[in-house]
This record gives sequence, C-alpha cells and structure tokens, in this order.
Amino acid sequence: MSRQPLIAPSILSADFAHLADEIARVPRADWLHIDVMDAHFVPNLSFGLPVAEAVRSVTDTFLDVHLMIEDPARWAPDYAAFGNVTFHLEAVADVDAAVALAATLRAAGTRAGVSVKPGTPVEPLLDELAAFDTVLVMSVEPGFGGQSFMPEVLDKVRALRARIDEEGLTTVVEIDGGITPETAAPAAAAGVDVFVAGSAVFGKEDPAGRIEEIRTAAAAAGDYR
Ligand code: DX5
Ligand code: ZN
Repeated sequence: MSRQPLIAPSILSADFAHLADEIARVPRADWLHIDVMDAHFVPNLSFGLPVAEAVRSVTDTFLDVHLMIEDPARWAPDYAAFGNVTFHLEAVADVDAAVALAATLRAAGTRAGVSVKPGTPVEPLLDELAAFDTVLVMSVEPGFGGQSFMPEVLDKVRALRARIDEEGLTTVVEIDGGITPETAAPAAAAGVDVFVAGSAVFGKEDPAGRIEEIRTAAAAAGDYR
C-alpha cells in the first residue's frame, strides 16, 4: 500500500487572535491538527468545540482533532463533522472501551484515532488496530507545545508499523511532540505517516517553508513509495 509523509501543523502554536490568517499561511499543510485540552486530563486548557468549529469554517484542509480530555465518550461524538477524532487510551476504561468509542465515531461519520502518552505501551492495541484509523504516539508529555522530542517512543512506532504492514491494514501512524526537520527523520525511518508539528511551524518566519523542510526530511528518511 502506498504511503506518503503527511504534515499536520498544530494550531496550538498559532496566534489565536488571527487563526484564519495563520491557517492561510500554511496552504500546503496536509492536515491541520487541533489540540483540545480540558485542564483535567492534561494540566493545560486550550479551547473546545466553538474554536474548532471556527477553524472548520475557514478551511477545507483535513482536520485532525486531538482530544486531551477526560470522559471522551461524552464529548468526542460532538466532533464527528471533523476529518479524524483522536482520544486518549488513558482516558477510557480499557482497550475494549477504546474500540467501542472508535466504532461510535466511525458510525457518526468521522475517522477514529487513539493516542498513547509516552509511558503507555502499545502492545494492548496491537490486536485491535483495525478498529482505528489513526494511532497517535505522543513524543512529549501531552499538554504543551515546544517540548523536546523523546526518541524512546520510536520503539512503539516500530511495533505499530510492523503489525500494520503484516496485516495489510490502512491504520495510519501519527507522531506528536517535538517534531522538527531533524526529529522527523528518525520518526520517518521508524514508520510514521503523519507528523504533527506546532512550534516548529507556527511562530516562525516562514511556516510554509518549515512544512516543506519537515516533509523533505521525512521523505528522505522513510520507506515511502
Ligand atoms: C501537545 C500537543 C501537540 C503540540 C505539539 O500536547 O498534543 O500537538 O501542539 O507542539 P510541538 O510541535 O511544539 O511539540
Ligand atoms: Zn496534539
């Protein structure tokens, strides 16, 4: 199956007073990543559905919602009009509950993703990957942009990539946290498909150019064809 590196700038690092302008500065973003935080699941509060909806109203880009919230079964279906909705494995009771919520999201018309914090193993998910459209491996502790990439999470990426390829699944592996042109290379080599990048893109002189730098680094290092 053909794979391409996809770059997903995170609007968490954008200027919230000018979100529409910021989004217009990254026309070649493959996806836009929307970080929803509730100050309970993570020690930070970002924004919720009204701001996410405002973003949706100004772009046709595929929207990737990352819910860093407690009780995702209650809130995630509200985001069904977005392209992909990812919730955290640590926020639900167990893998069965994650599979059930993913099925609910798919039935509501969106793609469904599950995310794991750096300390959460992926082994319990490996037999259930067909239930998820995306698996988002956090490469920093969720909550804040601008942290340093944790290379040790790439073992999890390799385990996911191996099982996905073995079973011929379409599940996409996403990485989030500390992604730059430099860290995108080892992540690509480990088997990442989607590269979320916040502070490496927004807040820079040339956000569109930064995206292309990440794309070029990933394409050169990964097994994409
Ligand atoms: C962190 C968020 C990330 C954040 C990444 O909890 O999930 O999406 O925006 O920011 P950088 O790329 O700056 O690490
Ligand atoms: Zn995120």
